[in-house]
Amino acid sequence: MAKILVLFAHPLLEKSRVHSKLAAAAKKVKGVTFHDLYEEYPDFDIDVNEEKELLLAHDIIVLQHPFYWYSAPPIIKQWLDLVLEYGWAYGRGGVALTGKFVLQVVSAGGKQELYSPEGRNRFTFRQFLTPFEQSFRLCHMEYLSPYVIHGTHRLSITEIAEVAAGYAQLLTALQTGQIQPEQLAGENYIDGVKGLIALNNSLHEQ
Ligand SMILES: Cc1cc2nc3c(=O)[nH]c(=O)nc-3n(C[C@H](O)[C@H](O)[C@H](O)COP(=O)(O)O)c2cc1C
Repeated sequence: MAKILVLFAHPLLEKSRVHSKLAAAAKKVKGVTFHDLYEEYPDFDIDVNEEKELLLAHDIIVLQHPFYWYSAPPIIKQWLDLVLEYGWAYGRGGVALTGKFVLQVVSAGGKQELYSPEGRNRFTFRQFLTPFEQSFRLCHMEYLSPYVIHGTHRLSITEIAEVAAGYAQLLTALQTGQIQPEQLAGENYIDGVKGLIALNNSLHEQ
């Protein structure tokens, strides 16, 4: 059984339409450790030792957050800056996280077609996530194809419920070994709205 840690960051959860449902669904998945960074550290005073212990105790690290200004809410940056220490996570002797997997789960207001060289956002979504991907790779971790939920403003309550169910299914499949994390490797990303259909298709294409 893979041990999964969800590192969750949403600064305004009470106003969230998407992540409130995704978080509730993830919390119900047996064997998943759900760790809400804003709840735990409202003053950004991150307990580095506790975070390191959590990382060491899990195999798959899920980074779940909304896409803010082409990036992530600020506590994620604080977490990266403080927890992924030189000599522990990277650099000389920094091998503590070697071989662990990272799955980034991101929601974005912008629709998929806006994230292309021709679209308003000029770059692909995957390109915007490059600093995350490379940071984790520097820490000898395997960065999986991110799970992206596009066009959040237009998603209906029913669609959000379906996305949340798909997310929970993905976590369950990873936890039980029905899906091996290696199967989610690759250069693209998984469309969370199309959910497991997209996931199955991308698995078959490999
Ligand atoms: C401060 C802020 C910055 C945002 N930046 C982006 C952005 O760069 N690109 C994008 O597609 N959506 C952006 N959005 C939209 C959010 O990604 C979207 O509202 C969120 O994923 C919906 O999830 P929620 O209902 O859980 O809040 C931004 C929203 C806020 C509040």
